[in-house]
Amino acid sequence: MREFNYPIMPEIMRRWSPRAFSEAPVAKEEILALLEAARFAPSCYNEQPWRFIVAHTPEELQAMQSLLAEQNHAWAKHAPALLLLLAKRTFSHQGQENYWHVFDTGTAWGFLSLEAERRGLIAHAMGGFSRKRAAQLFGLSPDFAPIAIVAIGKLGDPSSLSPELQEREQPGMRRALSELIISSPDRKS
Ligand SMILES: Cc1cc2nc3c(=O)[nH]c(=O)nc-3n(C[C@H](O)[C@H](O)[C@H](O)COP(=O)(O)O)c2cc1C
Repeated sequence: MREFNYPIMPEIMRRWSPRAFSEAPVAKEEILALLEAARFAPSCYNEQPWRFIVAHTPEELQAMQSLLAEQNHAWAKHAPALLLLLAKRTFSHQGQENYWHVFDTGTAWGFLSLEAERRGLIAHAMGGFSRKRAAQLFGLSPDFAPIAIVAIGKLGDPSSLSPELQEREQPGMRRALSELIISSPDRKS
């Protein structure tokens, strides 16, 4: 059981990363609404470095699924939508490296995940995919870093998962707040 020290946004309290997806479809409009939430994330220089490749049709889904690591493919193949998140490495106004491109794309993913929760959808981010093959498949310019594939859908029956995954099918726990607040820069842990 997760414990909260303070009452916070219900969507933050409820959100987690399930692997049991139902076969229920998700309308394209719903996916677009999630991207809308991501669009309004703040970013350095208002660069908005995030980009999205949406897989929603059976052909698009099959191609995106082929990028997933085996252990993710096993459950994420049931998600009715998969989203590849990209981050533009350089600033558009002067072409120099944007150190914050991944930071800002992470914020956009956070917004997206909370909007999904608010709408009764589930969103599960995955780093386990081939970035190299993603770049090849979509002909990505080197300026775009593939960051994560996000599985989007509706909560399904955990008994559809392997026994090992069924055991892990619960909200992830968190470090104590006291562990996260570093009082002195010299402190090692
Ligand atoms: C960038 C990123 C990459 C992740 N990669 C994977 C992954 O490859 N496979 C997986 O099953 N979960 C993955 N997760 C989900 C995390 O394991 C999960 O968010 C974490 O354990 C906290 O649990 P919670 O989301 O239920 O609170 C990833 C999450 C993030 C944000």
